[in-house]
Amino acid sequence: MVPSPQSKTGPSHGSTPGPSLKLAELKMQFQDAQAGSVTALSLAKWELLGGQAIGIRGPSGAGKSTLLNVISGLLLPTQGSVWWDGCEITQLKEAERDRWRRRNIGFIFQDFHLIPELSALENVLLPLRFDHWRCPPPKRRYGLELLERFGIPRPKQLAATLSRGQQQRVAVARALINQPPILLADEPTASLDRESGDRVTQILLDVAQKEQKTVIVSSHDQQLLKKLSDTYRLAEGQLELQ
Ligand SMILES: Nc1ncnc2c1ncn2[C@@H]1O[C@H](COP(=O)(O)OP(=O)(O)O)[C@@H](O)[C@H]1O
Ligand SMILES: [Mg+2]
Repeated sequence: MVPSPQSKTGPSHGSTPGPSLKLAELKMQFQDAQAGSVTALSLAKWELLGGQAIGIRGPSGAGKSTLLNVISGLLLPTQGSVWWDGCEITQLKEAERDRWRRRNIGFIFQDFHLIPELSALENVLLPLRFDHWRCPPPKRRYGLELLERFGIPRPKQLAATLSRGQQQRVAVARALINQPPILLADEPTASLDRESGDRVTQILLDVAQKEQKTVIVSSHDQQLLKKLSDTYRLAEGQLELQ
């Protein structure tokens, strides 16, 4: 039995639920060389209570990825505010926003975004590079624990040679290494077969339930969505509870 992460390393968020999210008058426009100004997202208002695990669905192009990028602080919106608890991340300077994101957000991408020439473990430990010259041994142990928990038998195996299901599980471990209170996942099962997708779903749900993180998952995967507490549909500038 692998101990829970709180018993080991890093900041413990204990049983405190993850932070609440509040959005107001949010707009994201891109300037496209050919198409001109593209409105990728427009949302008047949305609030989500902390510690919940919810899904967001919606047609392709509705702005799901843009929304996740904006609430993670990866993208600064053209207009509007994003609050996580009392912190208005849209008011932070870029360097502060980056620091806030590293401490608070674990992000899982549809296409994993692993570095193929690095091992599974090296990929998991990558986020620590920003804050540590050398990887602290307890963090390395925690990385190994996560890989074991997620069924990755050879931590030194190159990411390029892992199966797609294994690659996504490594990506989940990487998102968790800093023990963030918020987990965001952009179509995490979309490029996996059913069995691998179900395994990743189970891992996300376990983490969400045990650690009370605030979890937001964009997905079309009904098997995944039906296991989350709520699903919202993003379309035409609205996030509607389904
Ligand atoms: N960098 C960009 N430049 C121009 N348009 C973009 C850019 N990123 C996204 N878009 C457009 O914004 C809209 C929303 O995109 P996206 O958030 O990727 O939607 P979804 O994830 O729901 O499929 C789409 O119409 C897309 O073409
Ligand atoms: Mg998308």
